Amino acid sequence: MKKPKHHIFVCASFRMSGTPQGVCNKKGAGSLLQYLENELSDRGMDEVSVSMTGCLKLCDKGPVMVIYPQNLWYGEVTESKIDEVLDALEEGKPLDKYQIT
Ligand code: FES
Repeated sequence: MKKPKHHIFVCASFRMSGTPQGVCNKKGAGSLLQYLENELSDRGMDEVSVSMTGCLKLCDKGPVMVIYPQNLWYGEVTESKIDEVLDALEEGKPLDKYQIT
């Protein structure tokens, strides 16, 4: 496997028990993950990896998504925000609009 150019982490609210229980999960992180995977595939963005994470400790901003190596943190993520973030990633410029500050 090639090293990814970008790695997107989406909080899936997993707890130590392995059960997803937190805010991001309740706000639909699971379906957002599926949407993100589908969008990346449709756009041919095979240089981007996606991983689910445990709680990223910003629950009140959930669902939370992080992109490395740029260290971009996005909160209250929706499908339309994912579209804008991916558009910006394709253009090579980070989208500041929805970043958690
Ligand atoms: S549950 Fe997602 S940041 Fe805490």
